[in-house]
Amino acid sequence: MTNITLIGTDLSAAAGYLQQGACVAIPTETVYGLAANALDAAAVVRIFEIKKRPAFDPLIVHVADLAHALHYADDFPEPLRRLAENFWPGPLTLLVPKSALIPDLVCSGLPRVALRAPAHPMAQALLRMLDFPLAAPSANPFGYISPTTAQHVYNQLQGQIPYILDGGPSPVGVESTIAGYEAGQVVIYRLGGLALEAIEQLVGPVRTNLNQSSNPAAPGMLTAHYAPRKPLELVGASLPAHRTISGRTGIITFKKRAGLPENVLQIALSETGDLAEAAKNLFAALRTLDDADIDLILAETVPEEGLGRAINDRLRRAAAGNDQTGSSQA
Ligand code: TXA
Ligand code: MG
Repeated sequence: MTNITLIGTDLSAAAGYLQQGACVAIPTETVYGLAANALDAAAVVRIFEIKKRPAFDPLIVHVADLAHALHYADDFPEPLRRLAENFWPGPLTLLVPKSALIPDLVCSGLPRVALRAPAHPMAQALLRMLDFPLAAPSANPFGYISPTTAQHVYNQLQGQIPYILDGGPSPVGVESTIAGYEAGQVVIYRLGGLALEAIEQLVGPVRTNLNQSSNPAAPGMLTAHYAPRKPLELVGASLPAHRTISGRTGIITFKKRAGLPENVLQIALSETGDLAEAAKNLFAALRTLDDADIDLILAETVPEEGLGRAINDRLRRAAAGNDQTGSSQA
């Protein structure tokens, strides 16, 4: 059992812990990951324990590039290969038939493995120092908001992992887009850091399949996920003018909004209305309001285009997390 968690930028230290079979938090361009040797089932078990993640929710395997990915796939359908060639390294995860090299535990017994080449320079450098791929879910307790800084990871996992590799605030800020290939068509299972429009431009119209809540055939983005502990309510594209607000309330707005009641603490995701900037700031804003002295979090939705789709998806799930009676919250 680890007791001291260090935060630093020492790639060799991070590599050393991973080579010993320990879990290390690593920066990626999307969110921080809780990484371990994907080929070592004992190391992977620790990820599930630390995250309190149910064994039916499989892990993404991170590789340096497509050449490495091919090693862990039994087949790589042509449209997915084109996506990898165009968007890797980057915020895109591809579900492909798994090779026997990947332990079944990593994929929760499912036939496909989720592969991603992250773009963050420290993640790239680390992967190139290692002779194994890294299984890494987001480095948060299961069901909570994904971390976008080393400090977010430390706040929740200190004492449980030896090292957090600090790569600064995650520049994309929402998790990767997850895609696969079924019946001759590209399917999107999770909206994320790579815009749907960019994918369709390359491979034509895609199908989306976003809501599976148990033993997800794909990205089990359980309906209630990314949830703050405080109640969160969506208010549409803007707070209705007649809405009375009792008690201390926080609101996440897209752009800065004037004239809000005095008891409302506002965090604007992007002063200029830029969706990529809004995505980058989203999870930190949720954490700030979750930790603030307020009783309720309100959130505006953003335009449903580009990274706005992923932002709205995360906000909807955060809202669902509050009136959820099921067991998907840990
Ligand atoms: O941006 C990201 O994707 C981040 C960074 C760290 O890379 N990772 C991340 O991992 O968000 P995680 O575990 O929080 O979400 C991965 C999702 C899960 O919901 C899981 O169900 C799905 O991907 N997934 C992973 N492997 C799968 C598989 N073999 N078959 C179907 N779904 C899979
Ligand atoms: Mg996650």
